Amino acid sequence: MDIIVSEHVEAEFLEIVECILANSDYQKLSNYVQHKNTTRLMHSLNVAYISWKLAKKMGCDARTAARAGMLHDFCLYDFREKAEEAQVFHHPKVAARMSQERFQISEKERDAILSHMFPLGPMPTSKEAWIISFTDKMCAVTERFCIGIALSRKNRVQVAA
Ligand SMILES: [Fe+2]
Ligand SMILES: [Fe+2]
Repeated sequence: MDIIVSEHVEAEFLEIVECILANSDYQKLSNYVQHKNTTRLMHSLNVAYISWKLAKKMGCDARTAARAGMLHDFCLYDFREKAEEAQVFHHPKVAARMSQERFQISEKERDAILSHMFPLGPMPTSKEAWIISFTDKMCAVTERFCIGIALSRKNRVQVAA
């Protein structure tokens, strides 16, 4: 799969996320629709990018914000599938487990993934985790209403099979 990112996107961000983006399992996120109008891959990339920008502005750990943003919904199944608990509580645990298995995530990254659905689920315990939780909700709203922001603006990211 070719994922072409516009030259307008900072190399510093791409360096952080490229090993995740090159992973063949991670690329399968492009097969899942998210918030009706986008894919889980595009949603995750945008959460990662905006979180990275916010973390830099706020003097936080931008690398952690970018990586946790990339991985917060790393689940290879349809969220309409039934689980032993509601998906709003279940999918962060699956994403954290998948991320641990495939990428060497830190405790801080794991906690940010697990708490991204707050207040549905645990409260974030770091500034970076708060940023992920906030950005995820903001992206969900803009995606629902087909408003292109950051990397979801036209031609910022192109995915070709
Ligand atoms: Fe999520
Ligand atoms: Fe999300």
